[in-house]
Amino acid sequence: MIENKFIPKPYPNTIENGSFTWSSPSNIALVKYWGKKEHQIPENPSISFTLDNCKTTTALSFSKKENQEEFSFEVFLDGEKKDDFKPKIKTFFKRVEAYLPFLKTYHFKIETSNTFPHSSGIASSASGMSALALCLMSIEKELSSDVSEVDFIQKASFLARLGSGSACRSLEGDLVVWGKHTEIKGSSDLFGVKYPYEVHENFKNYRDTILLVDKGEKQVSSTVGHNLMHGHPFAQERFKQANNNLSEIISILKKGDLDKFIAVVESEALTLHAMMMTSMPYFILMKPNTLEIINKIWAYRKQTGSKVCFTLDAGANVHVLFPDAETKNVLEFIQNELVVFCQKGQYINDKIGFGAKQS
Ligand code: PMV
Repeated sequence: MIENKFIPKPYPNTIENGSFTWSSPSNIALVKYWGKKEHQIPENPSISFTLDNCKTTTALSFSKKENQEEFSFEVFLDGEKKDDFKPKIKTFFKRVEAYLPFLKTYHFKIETSNTFPHSSGIASSASGMSALALCLMSIEKELSSDVSEVDFIQKASFLARLGSGSACRSLEGDLVVWGKHTEIKGSSDLFGVKYPYEVHENFKNYRDTILLVDKGEKQVSSTVGHNLMHGHPFAQERFKQANNNLSEIISILKKGDLDKFIAVVESEALTLHAMMMTSMPYFILMKPNTLEIINKIWAYRKQTGSKVCFTLDAGANVHVLFPDAETKNVLEFIQNELVVFCQKGQYINDKIGFGAKQS
């Protein structure tokens, strides 16, 4: 499927070489994307908080080359050559070549680093792919003469999606929707859009502390996970439920209803894991400590009336979400009762952020 809208007109300018650097954050989904059609088209719409501290910074240097038949690039993570990253980037280049016709005309050096440890179990694909897409768009902007800021971000999100689906939600803050939803104006299966409606004060500066329960490599890659939704016995109901949850989130965000927010967000996390437990083959991605933490959060909420809640990615780590006003108490609770369940006591304090930045 070729999206003509994103195919550029012949470039009026030429550049021999240069370098661009972007920092792009990770994001955490409230309504989850799980299941996709061909060409990275999501089966259901999703919405996420953009994070602030968990980021990837990528410097992309480029220079014109003679042979223009192959892609040519090298990748470094924290200054170290990473040839094992190349296949994923090559696949990405192939997918986006029609939209960035300059890709084979340059040799690229991709130098990347994350603010979070590489083997922390925090996926770097969202922040990494969005940072790379933004660097590539900076080159396109130099080659063209008329790229507006809106078109720049939209195409960068479109490209990031082709690298890793959820990456298209990592460019802007603070809430981003990806996937067509009838009640969300401008929403699209092709790129993420900034959440366009009113958001209550309760959600300003919302906090996310990521408890690192299992820092190993992902047990199931998201590619495998999404594929498990093909022919899954509960798939259609799940996709409907995600649509309904997104409708509900609109009024929750407007009214600042934290109890309903907790119900939707925790149910989404458990549903994501339920999908993996009920697929064939089946997987349990939580660890015993994931459950310990969930039970502690529920007990603390019951005891104190706190509005703290949890969400999960496709792994064992727990994202602890809470309103800014509760920061002092919840951080104390985490320190006193939850850190003991983290590998080497490690966790990352983060909060809602405002998107990618060029440096
Ligand atoms: O972007 P992917 O293909 O790695 O999929 C990410 C899926 C989840 O993180 C589990 C959910 C989401 O919406 O981010």
